[in-house]
Amino acid sequence: MNRRYRKTLIAGNWKMNKTASETKAFADELKTMLPKAKWCDVLVCVPYVNIPAAQKAFKDTRVMVGAENVSEYEKGAYTGEVSAAMLKDLGVKYVIVGHSERRQYWNDTDVIVNKKALAAIEAGLYPIICVGESLEQRELGITKELIDLQVKTALANVPADKMRHVVIAYEPIWAIGTGRTATAEQANEVNQEIRTVIRKLYGARVARSVTILYGGSMNDQNAEELLAQPDVDGGLIGGASLVPTKLTTIINAANQE
Ligand code: 13P
Repeated sequence: MNRRYRKTLIAGNWKMNKTASETKAFADELKTMLPKAKWCDVLVCVPYVNIPAAQKAFKDTRVMVGAENVSEYEKGAYTGEVSAAMLKDLGVKYVIVGHSERRQYWNDTDVIVNKKALAAIEAGLYPIICVGESLEQRELGITKELIDLQVKTALANVPADKMRHVVIAYEPIWAIGTGRTATAEQANEVNQEIRTVIRKLYGARVARSVTILYGGSMNDQNAEELLAQPDVDGGLIGGASLVPTKLTTIINAANQE
Protein backbone atom coordinates (compact mmCIF):
# COMPACT_ATOMS: atom_id res chain seq x y z
CA MET A 1 0.00 0.00 0.00
CA ASN A 2 1.05 3.54 -0.43
CA ARG A 3 -1.44 5.60 1.50
CA ARG A 4 0.32 8.81 0.63
CA TYR A 5 -0.91 8.68 -2.93
CA ARG A 6 -3.93 6.42 -2.95
CA LYS A 7 -6.84 4.98 -1.10
CA THR A 8 -6.67 1.53 0.48
CA LEU A 9 -9.77 -0.54 -0.22
CA ILE A 10 -10.77 -3.81 1.41
CA ALA A 11 -13.59 -5.19 -0.72
CA GLY A 12 -15.56 -8.38 -0.26
CA ASN A 13 -17.04 -10.17 -3.24
CA TRP A 14 -19.79 -12.38 -1.94
CA LYS A 15 -20.49 -13.95 -5.34
CA MET A 16 -23.72 -16.03 -5.21
CA ASN A 17 -23.73 -16.41 -1.44
CA LYS A 18 -26.02 -15.37 1.43
CA THR A 19 -29.74 -14.67 1.42
CA ALA A 20 -31.11 -11.34 2.62
CA SER A 21 -31.60 -12.70 6.13
CA GLU A 22 -28.10 -14.18 6.19
CA THR A 23 -26.84 -10.79 5.07
CA LYS A 24 -28.47 -9.16 8.08
CA ALA A 25 -27.03 -11.78 10.43
CA PHE A 26 -23.56 -11.22 8.94
CA ALA A 27 -23.86 -7.45 9.40
CA ASP A 28 -25.04 -7.80 12.98
CA GLU A 29 -22.03 -9.97 13.79
CA LEU A 30 -19.52 -7.84 11.89
CA LYS A 31 -20.73 -4.68 13.62
CA THR A 32 -19.71 -6.07 16.99
CA MET A 33 -16.08 -6.42 15.91
CA LEU A 34 -15.62 -3.91 13.10
CA PRO A 35 -12.65 -1.61 13.65
CA LYS A 36 -13.19 2.06 12.86
CA ALA A 37 -11.05 1.38 9.81
CA LYS A 38 -9.97 4.94 9.20
CA TRP A 39 -6.97 3.44 7.41
CA CYS A 40 -9.05 1.95 4.63
CA ASP A 41 -12.39 1.93 2.89
CA VAL A 42 -14.50 -1.17 3.45
CA LEU A 43 -16.89 -2.52 0.85
CA VAL A 44 -18.97 -5.63 0.41
CA CYS A 45 -20.27 -6.44 -3.05
CA VAL A 46 -23.40 -8.55 -2.82
CA PRO A 47 -25.95 -10.11 -5.20
CA TYR A 48 -28.28 -7.51 -6.74
CA VAL A 49 -31.35 -8.66 -4.83
CA ASN A 50 -29.59 -8.30 -1.50
CA ILE A 51 -28.33 -4.76 -2.04
CA PRO A 52 -31.21 -3.03 -0.19
CA ALA A 53 -31.03 -5.52 2.69
CA ALA A 54 -27.27 -5.03 2.96
CA GLN A 55 -27.59 -1.24 2.83
CA LYS A 56 -30.14 -1.35 5.63
CA ALA A 57 -28.02 -3.75 7.67
CA PHE A 58 -24.84 -1.68 7.29
CA LYS A 59 -26.52 1.68 7.81
CA ASP A 60 -24.51 3.88 10.20
CA THR A 61 -21.34 1.82 9.66
CA ARG A 62 -18.31 2.44 7.48
CA VAL A 63 -19.19 -0.52 5.30
CA MET A 64 -20.24 0.40 1.79
CA VAL A 65 -22.40 -1.90 -0.30
CA GLY A 66 -21.53 -2.55 -3.92
CA ALA A 67 -22.72 -4.69 -6.83
CA GLU A 68 -21.03 -7.64 -8.50
CA ASN A 69 -21.94 -6.90 -12.09
CA VAL A 70 -23.75 -4.40 -14.31
CA SER A 71 -25.26 -4.43 -17.77
CA GLU A 72 -23.33 -2.84 -20.62
CA TYR A 73 -26.64 -1.48 -21.92
CA GLU A 74 -28.29 1.69 -20.73
CA LYS A 75 -31.88 0.41 -20.67
CA GLY A 76 -34.46 -1.50 -22.69
CA ALA A 77 -35.34 -5.04 -23.70
CA TYR A 78 -32.62 -6.95 -21.84
CA THR A 79 -34.54 -9.37 -19.65
CA GLY A 80 -32.88 -10.12 -16.36
CA GLU A 81 -30.24 -7.40 -16.63
CA VAL A 82 -29.60 -4.52 -14.22
CA SER A 83 -28.42 -1.13 -15.47
CA ALA A 84 -25.82 1.20 -14.02
CA ALA A 85 -28.50 3.86 -13.53
CA MET A 86 -30.56 1.44 -11.42
CA LEU A 87 -27.56 0.76 -9.18
CA LYS A 88 -26.76 4.45 -8.91
CA ASP A 89 -30.36 5.17 -7.97
CA LEU A 90 -30.10 2.63 -5.14
CA GLY A 91 -27.14 4.55 -3.75
CA VAL A 92 -24.50 2.09 -4.90
CA LYS A 93 -21.02 3.49 -5.56
CA TYR A 94 -18.80 0.55 -6.55
CA VAL A 95 -19.49 -2.24 -9.01
CA ILE A 96 -17.28 -5.17 -9.94
CA VAL A 97 -16.77 -5.47 -13.68
CA GLY A 98 -15.14 -8.31 -15.62
CA HIS A 99 -14.72 -10.79 -12.80
CA SER A 100 -13.10 -13.96 -14.18
CA GLU A 101 -16.23 -15.95 -13.34
CA ARG A 102 -18.27 -13.60 -15.54
CA ARG A 103 -15.62 -13.81 -18.25
CA GLN A 104 -15.62 -17.62 -18.03
CA TYR A 105 -19.31 -18.49 -17.59
CA TRP A 106 -21.07 -15.54 -19.23
CA ASN A 107 -18.56 -14.73 -21.90
CA ASP A 108 -17.80 -11.24 -20.68
CA THR A 109 -15.06 -10.50 -23.21
CA ASP A 110 -12.52 -7.69 -22.90
CA VAL A 111 -14.71 -5.58 -25.17
CA ILE A 112 -17.83 -6.22 -23.08
CA VAL A 113 -15.84 -5.45 -19.93
CA ASN A 114 -14.89 -2.13 -21.50
CA LYS A 115 -18.55 -1.40 -22.32
CA LYS A 116 -19.57 -2.24 -18.76
CA ALA A 117 -16.84 -0.05 -17.31
CA LEU A 118 -17.93 2.83 -19.57
CA ALA A 119 -21.60 2.30 -18.65
CA ALA A 120 -20.69 2.36 -14.96
CA ILE A 121 -18.59 5.51 -15.29
CA GLU A 122 -21.25 7.22 -17.38
CA ALA A 123 -23.80 6.62 -14.61
CA GLY A 124 -21.43 7.93 -11.94
CA LEU A 125 -20.46 4.54 -10.53
CA TYR A 126 -16.92 3.43 -9.66
CA PRO A 127 -16.00 0.24 -11.55
CA ILE A 128 -13.65 -2.30 -9.98
CA ILE A 129 -12.23 -3.80 -13.16
CA CYS A 130 -10.87 -7.33 -12.74
CA VAL A 131 -8.04 -8.73 -14.81
CA GLY A 132 -6.00 -11.89 -14.44
CA GLU A 133 -4.33 -14.77 -16.23
CA SER A 134 -5.08 -18.49 -16.18
CA LEU A 135 -2.53 -21.03 -15.02
CA GLU A 136 -1.87 -22.07 -18.64
CA GLN A 137 -1.22 -18.47 -19.62
CA ARG A 138 1.17 -17.97 -16.68
CA GLU A 139 3.03 -21.15 -17.56
CA LEU A 140 3.30 -20.03 -21.18
CA GLY A 141 5.01 -16.87 -19.92
CA ILE A 142 2.44 -14.49 -21.40
CA THR A 143 1.06 -13.00 -18.16
CA LYS A 144 2.46 -9.51 -18.82
CA GLU A 145 1.17 -9.32 -22.41
CA LEU A 146 -2.23 -10.64 -21.39
CA ILE A 147 -2.63 -8.24 -18.47
CA ASP A 148 -1.50 -5.33 -20.67
CA LEU A 149 -4.17 -6.21 -23.23
CA GLN A 150 -6.91 -6.68 -20.62
CA VAL A 151 -6.13 -3.37 -18.93
CA LYS A 152 -5.78 -1.41 -22.18
CA THR A 153 -9.01 -2.81 -23.60
CA ALA A 154 -10.97 -2.30 -20.38
CA LEU A 155 -9.86 1.34 -20.24
CA ALA A 156 -10.46 2.19 -23.90
CA ASN A 157 -12.25 5.56 -24.13
CA VAL A 158 -12.12 6.11 -20.36
CA PRO A 159 -11.10 9.78 -20.04
CA ALA A 160 -8.22 10.70 -17.73
CA ASP A 161 -10.45 12.75 -15.43
CA LYS A 162 -12.59 9.66 -14.73
CA MET A 163 -9.62 7.53 -13.73
CA ARG A 164 -9.96 8.63 -10.13
CA HIS A 165 -13.23 6.66 -10.12
CA VAL A 166 -11.59 3.50 -11.43
CA VAL A 167 -10.19 0.65 -9.34
CA ILE A 168 -8.32 -2.26 -10.92
CA ALA A 169 -8.20 -5.69 -9.30
CA TYR A 170 -5.56 -8.22 -10.28
CA GLU A 171 -7.04 -11.66 -9.75
CA PRO A 172 -5.00 -14.56 -11.13
CA ILE A 173 -7.59 -17.17 -12.08
CA TRP A 174 -5.47 -19.98 -10.66
CA ALA A 175 -5.62 -18.34 -7.23
CA ILE A 176 -9.38 -17.82 -7.06
CA GLY A 177 -11.15 -20.14 -4.66
CA THR A 178 -8.25 -22.58 -4.81
CA GLY A 179 -6.46 -21.73 -1.59
CA ARG A 180 -3.41 -21.17 -3.80
CA THR A 181 -2.47 -17.51 -3.31
CA ALA A 182 -0.04 -15.65 -5.51
CA THR A 183 3.08 -14.87 -3.53
CA ALA A 184 3.31 -11.30 -2.33
CA GLU A 185 6.05 -10.74 -4.91
CA GLN A 186 3.96 -12.17 -7.75
CA ALA A 187 1.01 -9.99 -6.76
CA ASN A 188 3.15 -6.89 -6.52
CA GLU A 189 4.90 -7.59 -9.80
CA VAL A 190 1.65 -7.72 -11.77
CA ASN A 191 0.12 -4.78 -9.89
CA GLN A 192 3.24 -2.79 -10.75
CA GLU A 193 2.84 -3.80 -14.38
CA ILE A 194 -0.77 -2.61 -14.34
CA ARG A 195 0.41 0.73 -12.96
CA THR A 196 3.00 0.94 -15.74
CA VAL A 197 0.30 0.41 -18.36
CA ILE A 198 -1.80 3.15 -16.76
CA ARG A 199 1.22 5.46 -16.68
CA LYS A 200 1.75 4.93 -20.40
CA LEU A 201 -1.91 5.65 -21.08
CA TYR A 202 -2.56 8.52 -18.66
CA GLY A 203 0.75 9.75 -17.26
CA ALA A 204 2.50 9.45 -13.90
CA ARG A 205 0.10 11.45 -11.78
CA VAL A 206 -2.94 9.32 -12.68
CA ALA A 207 -0.95 6.08 -12.38
CA ARG A 208 0.28 6.99 -8.93
CA SER A 209 -3.22 7.63 -7.64
CA VAL A 210 -5.08 4.58 -9.00
CA THR A 211 -6.00 1.97 -6.40
CA ILE A 212 -4.95 -1.51 -7.57
CA LEU A 213 -6.20 -4.47 -5.56
CA TYR A 214 -5.09 -8.08 -5.36
CA GLY A 215 -7.64 -10.91 -5.22
CA GLY A 216 -7.34 -14.67 -5.11
CA SER A 217 -7.43 -16.64 -1.86
CA MET A 218 -6.58 -13.58 0.19
CA ASN A 219 -7.44 -14.41 3.79
CA ASP A 220 -6.81 -13.60 7.42
CA GLN A 221 -3.49 -15.47 7.30
CA ASN A 222 -1.85 -13.91 4.26
CA ALA A 223 -3.44 -10.44 4.02
CA GLU A 224 -0.78 -8.63 6.01
CA GLU A 225 2.06 -9.77 3.77
CA LEU A 226 0.14 -9.07 0.56
CA LEU A 227 -0.97 -5.63 1.75
CA ALA A 228 2.60 -4.75 2.75
CA GLN A 229 3.55 -4.70 -0.93
CA PRO A 230 3.93 -1.18 -2.30
CA ASP A 231 1.62 -1.70 -5.29
CA VAL A 232 -1.05 -3.78 -3.55
CA ASP A 233 -3.55 -1.15 -2.44
CA GLY A 234 -6.09 -3.50 -0.96
CA GLY A 235 -7.90 -6.74 -1.55
CA LEU A 236 -10.86 -8.19 -3.42
CA ILE A 237 -11.80 -11.04 -1.19
CA GLY A 238 -14.16 -13.92 -1.89
CA GLY A 239 -14.46 -16.75 0.61
CA ALA A 240 -12.86 -14.99 3.58
CA SER A 241 -15.21 -12.00 3.21
CA LEU A 242 -18.15 -14.24 4.11
CA VAL A 243 -16.81 -14.76 7.63
CA PRO A 244 -16.97 -11.70 9.93
CA THR A 245 -13.90 -12.63 11.99
CA LYS A 246 -11.79 -13.20 8.87
CA LEU A 247 -12.92 -9.98 7.19
CA THR A 248 -12.16 -8.08 10.39
CA THR A 249 -8.65 -9.53 10.55
CA ILE A 250 -8.06 -8.49 6.94
CA ILE A 251 -9.27 -4.95 7.65
CA ASN A 252 -6.90 -4.80 10.60
CA ALA A 253 -4.09 -6.11 8.40
CA ALA A 254 -4.54 -3.00 6.26
CA ASN A 255 -3.58 -0.90 9.25
CA GLN A 256 0.11 -0.72 8.49
CA GLU A 257 2.47 1.95 7.27
P1 13P B 1 -11.45 -16.10 -3.14
O1 13P B 1 -10.96 -15.07 -2.15
O2 13P B 1 -12.53 -16.97 -2.62
O3 13P B 1 -10.29 -16.85 -3.75
O4 13P B 1 -12.12 -15.28 -4.35
C1 13P B 1 -11.43 -14.22 -4.88
C2 13P B 1 -12.32 -13.49 -5.81
O5 13P B 1 -12.72 -14.00 -6.83
C3 13P B 1 -12.74 -12.15 -5.42
O6 13P B 1 -13.37 -11.50 -6.46
